[in-house]
Amino acid sequence: MSIPSLIEADRRHLIHPVVSYRAHEARGVTVLESAQGVFLRDIDGNELLDAFSGLWCVNTGYGHQSIVDAATKQLARLPYATGYFHFGSEPAIELASQLVELSPASLQHVYFTLGGSDAVDSALRFITHYYNATDRPSKKHLIALQRGYHGSSSIGAGLTALPAFHRHFDVPLPTQHHIASPYGYRNDFADDAALISASVAALEAKVAQLGADNVAAFFCEPIQGSGGVIVPPVGWLNAMREACRKLDILFVADEVITGFGRTGPLFACEAEGVQPDLMTVAKGLTAGYAPMGAVLMSDAVYQGIADGGDVAAAIGHGHTYSAHPVSAAIGLEVMRRYHEGGLLANGIARGPRFAQGLDALLAHPLVGDSRHRGLLGALELVSDKETRRGFEASLKLPDRIAAAAYANGLVFRAFGDNILGFAPALSYTESEFDLLFERLEKTLDDVLAQTDVRSAIKGSVEFKRTAAA
Ligand SMILES: Cc1ncc(COP(=O)(O)O)c(C=O)c1O
Repeated sequence: MSIPSLIEADRRHLIHPVVSYRAHEARGVTVLESAQGVFLRDIDGNELLDAFSGLWCVNTGYGHQSIVDAATKQLARLPYATGYFHFGSEPAIELASQLVELSPASLQHVYFTLGGSDAVDSALRFITHYYNATDRPSKKHLIALQRGYHGSSSIGAGLTALPAFHRHFDVPLPTQHHIASPYGYRNDFADDAALISASVAALEAKVAQLGADNVAAFFCEPIQGSGGVIVPPVGWLNAMREACRKLDILFVADEVITGFGRTGPLFACEAEGVQPDLMTVAKGLTAGYAPMGAVLMSDAVYQGIADGGDVAAAIGHGHTYSAHPVSAAIGLEVMRRYHEGGLLANGIARGPRFAQGLDALLAHPLVGDSRHRGLLGALELVSDKETRRGFEASLKLPDRIAAAAYANGLVFRAFGDNILGFAPALSYTESEFDLLFERLEKTLDDVLAQTDVRSAIKGSVEFKRTAAA
């Protein structure tokens, strides 16, 4: 197909995730054609530095021949094996064993899905089943965080707390509740300890209001990703986990973004010694080379389900592609690259450079906040650094930033509320970070050079380039 035909066919037939359908029709698709290392190439031949690992998933970078070989070998040997009827495949069993070995000790059992949304959906079904099977059927209420993202399954989208996922979708359900996000920049807590205490108090108050006998679980991301990379202070995750233990509700860590080295260790829970009851993962599990997610489950939850009522009855939860052998073979090679291949170590070693590059941009007139952990980070743009005021939506700043970044050969996430999200691959080199921050600073300068943006900024802006718009 010619490029114009492709764009027209996309406009007519392909529904894209999380866009305004009318805006997409008007704009047209950007077709990506190939990728190598940390660079993407579009169909017009433009080369783009990927500072977002696709959609926070290609943690390895693109084009690793060993991953391609692992997939090809498995495709030739056994491209599909059902997990139904007691069948299984070697790579899936090995990957489940590795995940159990490498994840927090509380997690002993693995159910594989195709991605994060169905991992969250599976976790929700298992939790419902568990409480019914263990004679506590009143425990149905779920608590999550404002600004949280837990995918877009029918029920999981109600745990998600982003308005686009609720509008016209009839969620959240009456059993789904949200407490305040640990959003340090937009709160005035005296210190980290005060923020942590406030989160624990909010959870306790919500459970007290609903009655502990009615609450099933608390879901959270160790660092909120799609809600704007909200990085809680160290100690927050552990405090929330311990609060759940005291309140007798399950603690579910959604590590779909934070897993697989994104924040430094293999899992963010590891950094604080947190042992969740359930954990959801996806993305970095296969580094995006094939679809796969998983729910990791404690032995107590597993045994509760297994022994609930008629032990001979099937537990009616399944997917045709659960534990897909090709995805599992890819997962095994990706895990090898994280460990023996040195990717986790490289990600940890590059963390300070990433942090320094983001923090240096605090000096830029548009930047109000810089936050990060490992190779997950964000800049929050404000029109007034003192009051932390944002920008009028009519300015469409995120669209301008994304367009300017593209023109400068850089891809990252420009969220609707003027937060810029970054998730570079763990394979980034020093010079690739230099390029990222060079292109990012130029992008911010280019947007600031637009007269209406400049005039939205409080006070006089010292502007260093002369070619102002
Ligand atoms: C924390 C979290 N949970 C769940 C999901 C949903 O995963 P998927 O898009 O693979 O369905 C995402 C996706 O970004 C996520 O960030």
